[in-house]
Amino acid sequence: MPASVSLFLPLEREGLTTLLLYYHRRQDRFFLRAAREWDEDRDWSAYTRDFSYEDPLTDRPRYMGPEETRELFRRYGLEDYLQQVLELLRRGRHQAVECLWEPRRNLRFFNFMHSSTLGLANGQHAIRSGGIRRHEPEEPELEVIVDGLNLARAMSYKNAAAQIPYGGSKLVVQSRYVEVDDLSALGFLAYAIDRSRSFTGPDMGFTPQHADVLRRHFTRNITGGSAGPLGPTGGPTAYGLLLAIKEAAEVAFGTPSLAGRTVAIQGLGAVGYPLAEHLLAEGAALIVADVDRRKVASLQSAHPAVKAVAPEEIIYQEADIFAPCAVGGIIGPEVIPRLRFKVILGAANNQLRATSKEEEIALARALAERGILFQIDWMHNLAGVLAGWEEYRNQEKASLENLKPHLERVCRDAVRENLRAALAEGITPTERAYRLVEEKIYGRG
Ligand code: NAI
Repeated sequence: MPASVSLFLPLEREGLTTLLLYYHRRQDRFFLRAAREWDEDRDWSAYTRDFSYEDPLTDRPRYMGPEETRELFRRYGLEDYLQQVLELLRRGRHQAVECLWEPRRNLRFFNFMHSSTLGLANGQHAIRSGGIRRHEPEEPELEVIVDGLNLARAMSYKNAAAQIPYGGSKLVVQSRYVEVDDLSALGFLAYAIDRSRSFTGPDMGFTPQHADVLRRHFTRNITGGSAGPLGPTGGPTAYGLLLAIKEAAEVAFGTPSLAGRTVAIQGLGAVGYPLAEHLLAEGAALIVADVDRRKVASLQSAHPAVKAVAPEEIIYQEADIFAPCAVGGIIGPEVIPRLRFKVILGAANNQLRATSKEEEIALARALAERGILFQIDWMHNLAGVLAGWEEYRNQEKASLENLKPHLERVCRDAVRENLRAALAEGITPTERAYRLVEEKIYGRG
């Protein structure tokens, strides 16, 4: 796709700054708006010192309604592209995408909003939540948009499963790397984050140091900095996963005790390593694999009884429980007939190799037919989201002690309820998890 195929092209050519594509789901219709809201020479490093995100930022504003905005795209031969993006919003049941453009550095900022239902009455500035990630300018814009929309929808599910009062969104910047001392670029991003009415945290292309600078100079709507009060989220995620594994053990084996159970762990990173330590303390026997031999060696030197296998073999081991804690996409149709586990429950995101909910459910059913108890990852790998929420709510006073009761409610009580109710209804826990969050987000039916 040529670089000229971009939602930002008409903005650049016409001296505009902002584009809103809004989808009214209930009425099944679109609302479009384009605007010029700031001048090219705006000094964004003065954001929150000299101006707020509500102030008029130009003496030459311009506003275009739905028809004029469509006409704008027609003029640049982009009406099909615009329609393609609008159809993506409709198909994913998304609320909107807002594009903000900073001309001097060519920062192309997208706020992909999937839903706000759960956040509307929370009484806070942020009504949605989701990370902020960056893409290189050369990447085809449509791929960036599809990725952003998918991630925003996944955040709606995660926030609903985490039982926190926010809709899902994803913030995306298409630009060159933003230096951590570039206060002008970061001031613009802070303005865009505040305007998004979400709280966010650094994802690919941004670092905890970016979050530190943004917080120090501009906005409290970003969490997950290196100077943050909660530290890395791997530990809490491992603890939540342990609680969920015990619930699954009770359903599969009639007891939550892991003493004498064999657990296979794929990946001994920020989550897998502390999980291994928890499981050993519970009396489980471990089979582990990591592409990084040093991590395996470190665990084995402290616990010589731990068995290690090659990374490509771990999924074919015989064990009571398998905990994938590395890469995604590991469970596809060709793998399932060869699995020898009774339970699969892990932290890795997107463990099922699927590109839609329907494909995921087909794979979850295939696992159930093999007698394997499995639950979709976003129902229990929620501690990262919960840590962001705790920091957003309590700022410097955030603590792991505060987080723990909620983590237990979500990773122990809700998992127990989901596994048992699914069993009673004769459906997979994954289908029930989808139904649960979709009812919360879209209403029944
Ligand atoms: P990490 O990067 O610290 O650890 C991943 C480990 O897996 C590394 O030790 C790596 O060497 C190993 N690995 C990579 N490919 C492998 C393979 N093919 N076979 C065996 N080992 C392999 O990542 P982290 O934070 O532990 O996350 C693990 C998974 O859990 C990821 O999918 C992540 O997205 C997900 N997750 C993590 C959360 C967190 O709080 N850290 C929260 C929710 C999900």
